[in-house]
Amino acid sequence: MSAIITAYLRTYQRRHRRDTLETTLTTGIRSCKDSRKSTMASYSKERLRGTKKTYSGKGMVKVGRLLSISPVRYWPSFRAFLAAVEMGGGARGDNNLYQTFGSKVPDTFLHEAESELRVLGIGSGSGEADSIILKKLLQRHKRVYNRVVEPSGEMIERFKTLVREDTGLRGVTFDWRHQTDEEYFRKKINTQFHLLHAVHVLYCVEDLHATLRNMWEQLEDTGYMFIILEADKGNVWKMREKFWERFGQGDRLKSSLRTTGDVKQWLDTMGISYVTSEYEINIDVTECFKENSEAGRQLLDFLTQTPYITNDPEMQTMVLENIRCNASVVGEKILLKQIGEAVIAFKKGAEKN
Ligand SMILES: C[S@@+](CC[C@H](N)C(=O)[O-])C[C@H]1O[C@@H](n2cnc3c(N)ncnc32)[C@H](O)[C@@H]1O
Repeated sequence: MSAIITAYLRTYQRRHRRDTLETTLTTGIRSCKDSRKSTMASYSKERLRGTKKTYSGKGMVKVGRLLSISPVRYWPSFRAFLAAVEMGGGARGDNNLYQTFGSKVPDTFLHEAESELRVLGIGSGSGEADSIILKKLLQRHKRVYNRVVEPSGEMIERFKTLVREDTGLRGVTFDWRHQTDEEYFRKKINTQFHLLHAVHVLYCVEDLHATLRNMWEQLEDTGYMFIILEADKGNVWKMREKFWERFGQGDRLKSSLRTTGDVKQWLDTMGISYVTSEYEINIDVTECFKENSEAGRQLLDFLTQTPYITNDPEMQTMVLENIRCNASVVGEKILLKQIGEAVIAFKKGAEKN
């Protein structure tokens, strides 16, 4: 493994002549910790002096805004991320990440099993997470009405194919809305839902607080709002936080770098009750250290939510250094831990459940 990193560094150095990178990536864990300390110390000093350096590189406006700046780059990067998830069968397949999401959904509602249960999915993508959630609900409820709000036509088509091919979804009536959540909520909607979910979507919406408020208003009194996002802990988040601190501009909540901490803060402010449940995954970041690996470049873009960060040597150096300091080497792989969290918010009526 160290051979991959060393080979990478040699080429990188030849190109960019950055002695500092070699110092931080090739020395052992001890010096990695030392360099982390000194980096953190210099951040604190800057903060104390109130002179936090503002990055003025050409990439700055793109930082943390992968989907809005470059949808073309977003999708392959998202796929590279899913392929790098280490969990049973990866992100898809048996014992996978989506099964974990499904296991966290409440399955009992104060609602008669005979009558239709109404579900609203925001940003359902190609439907893998939704279909697991729906099947869980079908175990107790005979009929489910599922409204899907998804702005990507390609994703909706894939979801429709999944529905056609999966006989386990026969009890579900689908209502497809080819829209962003902003477009969807702009019109007055009278339907109330028993379950509203947004699985790894709230990074993408324009205004996090407006989306949460709109979702909450469409929730039945006995219903649940189910949100999954990255938690504000774990090594991926540590890297993202440092990256934003160094290169981000303006309000972080306007970027995609959001966490369940931001969601819980809003719920607390609104006096809304919720419970939470965490899960852990490892991301195989080995490709990120290989010269000329397109999968590695896509994964770095997804991890930073920033398009083409390898075109910016300063950003790339910072991110790789941070990953190197926080990742573990397992056999031939370099693994970085990410912690996700489900937040289940409920109205007063659901407390009796
Ligand atoms: C990371 S994917 C998650 C997809 C799916 N929920 C899953 O877990 O596999 C984010 C999804 O949000 C959708 N999306 C992006 N912007 C959105 C918006 N403003 N409103 C609703 N959905 C959005 C994307 O098209 C994409 O399908």
